[in-house]
Amino acid sequence: SAYDAGEHESYMRKEILEQPTTAQAVLRGRLDERFGTAHLGGLDMDARDLRAVRRVKILGCGSAYYVGQMGAALIEELARIPADAEAASEFRYRDPVIEPDTLYVAVSQSGETIDTLLAVQEIRRKGGRCVGLVNVVGSAIARECDGGIYLHAGPEVAVASTKALTNMFLGFALLALQLGRVRDLSIADGKRLVAGLERLPGQIEEVLAAEADLVDVAKELAEARSLFFIGRVRGFPVAREGAQKFKEISYRHAEAYQTSELKHGPLALIDPEVPTVALVPSDELTERNIGALHEIDARQGPLVVITHEDVDLGEIGARRIVVPRNEPELDPILLTIPLQLLAYHAAQHLGHDIDKPRNLAKSVTVE
Ligand code: G6P
Repeated sequence: SAYDAGEHESYMRKEILEQPTTAQAVLRGRLDERFGTAHLGGLDMDARDLRAVRRVKILGCGSAYYVGQMGAALIEELARIPADAEAASEFRYRDPVIEPDTLYVAVSQSGETIDTLLAVQEIRRKGGRCVGLVNVVGSAIARECDGGIYLHAGPEVAVASTKALTNMFLGFALLALQLGRVRDLSIADGKRLVAGLERLPGQIEEVLAAEADLVDVAKELAEARSLFFIGRVRGFPVAREGAQKFKEISYRHAEAYQTSELKHGPLALIDPEVPTVALVPSDELTERNIGALHEIDARQGPLVVITHEDVDLGEIGARRIVVPRNEPELDPILLTIPLQLLAYHAAQHLGHDIDKPRNLAKSVTVE
């Protein structure tokens, strides 16, 4: 076929390694350095429409839902519009209130996921405006939406989403920037984020270049029957996505938790048999995160910490995986890349069919 895994042992690995290039594709022509903003022509919303948005509701399934949570955080931080993400598969069944001044955003790689499509139809039936963040051009969700942002990640074959998910995050960053710059976001902050976005593809490449350092850690994690992925605030959806990937392809039980909530329950499960993968970026929560790591370490829980160079773990016994720093708002995507590699190498070590995990389909098109 015109698109095959070539010399790569799987599509998933090929798609992981394509990310520096595909990340450039979603940004191309959309960044405005002079005014520190983004231009998203496909949204079909002028400044007045953008300013009228009072709330943002993001809908997707699986990884698209988790990246939706990252996107909601970006929108709330940069544009100061209340934003949240919900599983599209649940949304329609709880008879949601559809508001005219809410911007609904449907996120989907395939553009064919039935739960997401039906959510879009319900929103539009009730007069809501729904835009799409979709990879496949001309897909059902793209056609059903009022406009949107194409992700330009190219064909994604592996069931576990990698490059499309990265571009979903970048799509949200562009949307947050454009929404922010017609509101309160300063030109200085806008320029700071535009520069950050321009640096990102190169930094993704740096993370991928350190792949070999992760292989042994992944093999160790693969041996565990159950593991935790923990993070706080911006790091929590990253933990959810990391646990999801691990479950999907390694078939190990992986549970995501807010680091802050650990002491309110799951700490009881921590012992030498249950590893924890912790997201500890260098930010205002670093010290609190390290406090939780001490609690885990004191119970001999094995620790893998995804972090930044300047974070000092002191006496804590942990495998440290360092990623480059960008702007704090954009760091989640750089923290996500090592989690893709950990899941990949764990599944590889276990000898699983990485591209076609058991019981799962790339897109679920029937209810
Ligand atoms: C399926 C796949 C997941 C994917 C989800 C959403 O359940 O197994 O990996 O995240 O669908 O797919 P979409 O095409 O809508 O992004």
